[in-house]
Amino acid sequence: MKKVSFAEFGGPDVLQLIDAEEPHAGPGHIRVAVRAAGVNPVDWRIREGQFQEESRTVHRPITLPAGIGQDASGVVDEVGEGVEGVEVGDRVFGRGSSTYAEFAVLAAWARMPEGLTFEEAAGYPSVVETALRIVRESGVQAGQTLLVSGASGGVGSAVLQIARDRGITVIGTAGAANQDYLRSLGALATTYGEGWAERVRRLGRVDAALDLAGSGVIRELAELTGDARKVISIADLEAPELGARYSGVTGNVPDALAEAADLISRGKLRIPVEKSYTLAEAAAAHADSQAGHTRGRRVILV
Ligand SMILES: NC(=O)c1ccc[n+]([C@@H]2O[C@H](COP(=O)([O-])OP(=O)(O)OC[C@H]3O[C@@H](n4cnc5c(N)ncnc54)[C@H](OP(=O)(O)O)[C@@H]3O)[C@@H](O)[C@H]2O)c1
Repeated sequence: MKKVSFAEFGGPDVLQLIDAEEPHAGPGHIRVAVRAAGVNPVDWRIREGQFQEESRTVHRPITLPAGIGQDASGVVDEVGEGVEGVEVGDRVFGRGSSTYAEFAVLAAWARMPEGLTFEEAAGYPSVVETALRIVRESGVQAGQTLLVSGASGGVGSAVLQIARDRGITVIGTAGAANQDYLRSLGALATTYGEGWAERVRRLGRVDAALDLAGSGVIRELAELTGDARKVISIADLEAPELGARYSGVTGNVPDALAEAADLISRGKLRIPVEKSYTLAEAAAAHADSQAGHTRGRRVILV
């Protein structure tokens, strides 16, 4: 089968499309014929070798050569021992490993809701798990206000819609080009950059804050909420040194996917795909993701 692999850590160009042995579903896993793979910032962080060093807060070393990608949508074609509730031929989306490939093994999955394309579905798994986890950890309730720094990307798009469904007001920051996009997802919007904290203050009082961009704003978020413990970052490993929380441990993916499928079916959640790529264009997908201004998701079509 065709698979994207890399044999050294480095820039996007280390990614190569190779012929590889097909993987098989071990106990508790399924294999899918991949139709699309989601591109997450963690993919290029792994490609750069960011999690190799033991001194890092997040230490998840891998051995090279390695495949890449953790999210996929596709059609089930192998069901591992002990797996129930899913059959060969089912259309699923989920999380696994080496998903930029024609076949991939998934460890967590759910049936795709009606009406969702494979292209869109591949964009959900990691971002909805993250979004549901951090909204829960923030403790915000209906009627309260959540500030989201970096609200127009994959995780932000999910957070805004989950919060809206729960009656939580959101103030989101994004670039000038994404202000209408944030408003279309029900948020109050303002731009990041010079004077941003004052612009947020004018939009209203804030009960908790999420840092999704890792742009060095923990101190300001703590000031706006009145308490650093009300600030959660998923992108700034130094957040705990400033009294805020860092959320980095993946939660229950099947439950998150089931909840996302319900929201999607009710028309409450839709994350747009900004651009799709082929397997051979994986390096371009990484370079574009790494530029840091994705609206919604980037996806590799297989
Ligand atoms: N810890 C965890 O469990 C976990 C899980 C998932 C993701 N992450 C991390 O969380 C981050 C976000 O993930 P994602 O998938 O949402 O990324 P993404 O889709 O690439 O979105 C990045 C967003 O950041 C915005 N942005 C860029 N510069 C900014 C700035 N200075 N201030 C505020 N916003 C800015 C961009 O908005 P504009 O285009 O409008 O500029 C863009 O929409 C990544 O670093 C990822 O590695 C961590």
